[in-house]
Order: sequence, then structure tokens, then C-alpha cells
Amino acid sequence: MGHISLIGFMGSGKSSVGKELAKLLPSMELIDLDTYIEAMTGRSIPEIFENEGEAAFRQMERSALEDIFMTGELTGSQYILSLGGGTVTTEACRRMIRRNSTCFYLKASVGTLVRNLETWPGDRPMLKGGKSLRSRVEELMTTRAPIYEKTAHHIINVDSDDYTAAAVDIITMQD
Ligand code: S3P
Repeated sequence: MGHISLIGFMGSGKSSVGKELAKLLPSMELIDLDTYIEAMTGRSIPEIFENEGEAAFRQMERSALEDIFMTGELTGSQYILSLGGGTVTTEACRRMIRRNSTCFYLKASVGTLVRNLETWPGDRPMLKGGKSLRSRVEELMTTRAPIYEKTAHHIINVDSDDYTAAAVDIITMQD
């Protein structure tokens, strides 16, 4: 079994599905890319956006992925990668993800995303600004939905919020 990557919008359940998968696949190591970058830089994601901006953060996502896939190759470790909602907006990241892992898009409707983001608001720099949460999600999803679809090898619908079932489906579809 190779690496598994989880992609999808903020609030789609990437971290939750990653944790469920890690329980079912104890030989694999779970890596959350945001947490990895925070450890790598010693700063929080909002701090990175605030001080260095989005472009610098996208570059960090790219180098973090390069490190992770390289380490996997050297050590033979198998990873479950819970990526950031915007990681696949960078072409080099899309290429690496498709080439080195089986990629699953956790697909949720705007309604589900808004509801989840209202329940777990977190500190998400990409959702800041004057717009309502729904219109910001709609705006970002207009450009991102086709990118998620074309990057993924498989699409998993998560509108039911059943993350255990999503993890079982992923294992069944993993090649
Ligand atoms: C982002 C999503 C976040 C985090 C950063 C940018 C995005 O991750 O990487 O705030 O551009 O969608 P989550 O999807 O885990 O919230």
C-alpha cells in the first residue's frame, strides 16, 4: 500500500477522516500538513499568513511535501497525509500528490462546509475579510472544486459527516 492523501475544502473533515484512517491502518503514520509546517517553522499558520503572506505559505507547503515524500522514500514509511484546503492550488503540489500517493477528495456541499465551519471555526486566514462565511466559501469553491476533482484519483462524498464510513470507503478503494 502506498501513501494516502486527503484533499478538500476547509471543514470537509480531512483531519477527522485522517484520524479514523490512522486507527484502521496502524502501520501508517498520520501527518497533518499544517501541523508539520507549524513544527517546521515554529510559528502558527495565522502568524505565517500575517507576517509573510499566502504566497510564502504555499511555498512552505511545497517544501514540506517534498521533505515528506523524500523521507518516505528513504525510510519506507507509509503516510496518511491530511493536506491543507489550498495545498492543491499549487501545481507542483498537485503533481507530487498524484505521483506519490493515492489521492482522495473529501467532497462536501457548500451547505455542509458552512455548517461545519460554523461549528469548528478555528483560525482560518483564508476565511477572514468582510464577506459572509457562505459567500467566501462559495467564492473559493468556484475556483477550487474543479481543482480538487482533477487532482483526486477518487472522490468520497462526506455530506453525511460519517467519517468512519469515509475511512472504510477509502481503504476499500485504495490501490
Ligand atoms: C487553507 C486551509 C487551511 C490551512 C490554511 C489555508 C486554505 O487548512 O492550510 O489556513 O487555503 O484552504 P484546513 O483545510 O485544514 O483548514
